[in-house]
Amino acid sequence: MIELLPSVLAADFARLEQELKLVEACGVKMLHVDVMDGVFVPSISLGMPVIKAMRNVSSLFFDVHLMVEEPGRYVKAIADCGADSISVHAEACRHLHRTVGQIRETGMQACVVLNPATGLSELKYVLQDVDTVLLMTVNPGFGGQKYIPAMTEKICELKAMIDRENPGVHIMVDGGIKLDNVQTVLEAGADRIVAGSSVFGAHTEENIRAFQEIFNNYYIYRKY
Ligand code: DX5
Ligand code: ZN
Repeated sequence: MIELLPSVLAADFARLEQELKLVEACGVKMLHVDVMDGVFVPSISLGMPVIKAMRNVSSLFFDVHLMVEEPGRYVKAIADCGADSISVHAEACRHLHRTVGQIRETGMQACVVLNPATGLSELKYVLQDVDTVLLMTVNPGFGGQKYIPAMTEKICELKAMIDRENPGVHIMVDGGIKLDNVQTVLEAGADRIVAGSSVFGAHTEENIRAFQEIFNNYYIYRKY
């Protein structure tokens, strides 16, 4: 099942409740929530109080993408906000295996994130313990950047690795995903599609419908 995860970073923060209700009404099941600490990435976005407030008005599945140094420090606090999944960067964890274990102990899903320049070898000894691998398709820190073309091959290689070693692990992609390149990442093997600036805006509903249509056609095309 392919899922679209609108990235709340691109939503109108003054109208968060309406934005969440709108994507939910369009049939979206999962939301991507970007947390930035100004150290691991240059910018600062939102934190626990906002996640908790969103939880109070939405029943979407929350995937919290922690772009922070040593994210293990915040696993419990994010769980307490009602998150469903935490995504942590291999580059930000001194003890990645331990952090993944901490996430799973809370009952949340665990996702490991790799920056564009980080090799898939980082996953070798944690792939059995994760639900999802997130490949950054831009350098993390800002919305609205351009997809890095070399990431298509990386997604294909990850798909082969997962099929070999732990089938069932999801492949999420994040950064620069638009209507005109989403087909490419689907064909490469991605099934969790994060999209910020290509979802939220003046035409949120139309944008979501257009993504959903591509997903539906992709299922038909795969069948034949
Ligand atoms: C970037 C964030 C993304 C961002 C994606 O560091 O991790 O989730 O919101 O935005 P777009 O889809 O606009 O590239
Ligand atoms: Zn993200």
